Amino acid sequence: MTDLESADMATSAHVNQLLAPVSVRQDFGSLSTPQGQGGRARSDSRSTVGVIGAGKVGAAVANALALVRSCDRIVLYNRGLARAEGQAWDISDGTALLHEIELLATDDWDDLVGVDVAVVTVGQSIHPGESRLQIDGNDAVIRHVMERLDEVAPGAVVVMVSNPVDVLTRLAIDCSSRPWQRIFGSGTVLDGARLRRSLGSTLGVDPQSVHVPVLGEHGDSSVIAWSVAAIGPVPLEAFPYPQASRLEDVKQRCLTQMRRRGVHDIFTRKGYTDAGIAAVVCRLVEAVLRNERRIFTVSTRALPEYQIGEHVVLGVPSVVGRDGILQRLPLKLDAEEQRLLVRSAATLVGANDQRNSITVPPRE
Ligand SMILES: NC(=O)c1ccc[n+]([C@@H]2O[C@H](COP(=O)([O-])OP(=O)(O)OC[C@H]3O[C@@H](n4cnc5c(N)ncnc54)[C@H](O)[C@@H]3O)[C@@H](O)[C@H]2O)c1
Repeated sequence: MTDLESADMATSAHVNQLLAPVSVRQDFGSLSTPQGQGGRARSDSRSTVGVIGAGKVGAAVANALALVRSCDRIVLYNRGLARAEGQAWDISDGTALLHEIELLATDDWDDLVGVDVAVVTVGQSIHPGESRLQIDGNDAVIRHVMERLDEVAPGAVVVMVSNPVDVLTRLAIDCSSRPWQRIFGSGTVLDGARLRRSLGSTLGVDPQSVHVPVLGEHGDSSVIAWSVAAIGPVPLEAFPYPQASRLEDVKQRCLTQMRRRGVHDIFTRKGYTDAGIAAVVCRLVEAVLRNERRIFTVSTRALPEYQIGEHVVLGVPSVVGRDGILQRLPLKLDAEEQRLLVRSAATLVGANDQRNSITVPPRE
């Protein structure tokens, strides 16, 4: 079965699940699974996802996981219980009509004992017009979150969402005791999805058939690897463009479309982003829980082949599965893309140095 076929099957399974009549069970009390000792594994085989932070993104992630039923249980943690409860109760009003899923709202870290995946969404967001790298208040909270997760869920795969996601993923890797492969950021997966949608609609093909990696920083210095772009099995430059178009026009049209409907325009209109990133996180969580070995451009340590230093954490194509990052993949970039990737890496290194956020030596 091809990757595409299995993706299609997974999608129709989700749709069927959403349409099927189902029983309802919501649990806002304490979990019936074993708790107590930090990191003790649960005795049941149900999958649990912890979402850290019940702000707009955390709530949207919990909602998406619940609607698609990516897991059996969700633990929604917030430092203030009322916020977590409000979000969880609102989500449960919807799932009551769909299917059984356990959802626990909590402000107690011990409730995260044994989670399979922890999604980190706490911290400040950007203000309109600001770059993600200008958010500088999230380092302390991420250190605190990783400390607590190391105590209660040392075996979990951690998916970082908080911005600046590449910088904070590096910080999380450096201050956690778990293997670096078990921590990755959402990286440029959302940027890539935007580009796929835009290029797919320009060329009149399903976005699932569009393969154009977006590498580097999740932010202003990200790099589109046009030179390796392909539509299905056909290299982009060989694909029949719409009449009277040249490849450069197609690229330009996509870039304009992406910019027009990108993060800053969404912010101007609604004040924040949540739905798109929630869908991305949902797919990443599923890739881990189902050991899908699917390729995403998540934030992780660079490969030597990229010639930017392995300490840099940024979006590179990686195989994601049960243990997090199973493999990082090298890409043969053209000279200009390589130059831009070096620039993106330098931007992130500069941001790290400026924030002085790495206070412990990087682990090997
Ligand atoms: N990676 C991506 O593509 C992407 C996309 C959208 C948003 N984000 C990021 O996600 C993060 C959350 O965004 P949001 O819109 O949900 O913000 P929000 O303000 O709605 O929620 C922030 C959450 O963080 C918690 N929090 C803040 N400071 C804290 C602290 N010191 N200790 C404990 N908890 C704390 C709050 O209680 C709240 O639950 C931001 O950093 C944002 O930039 C990332």
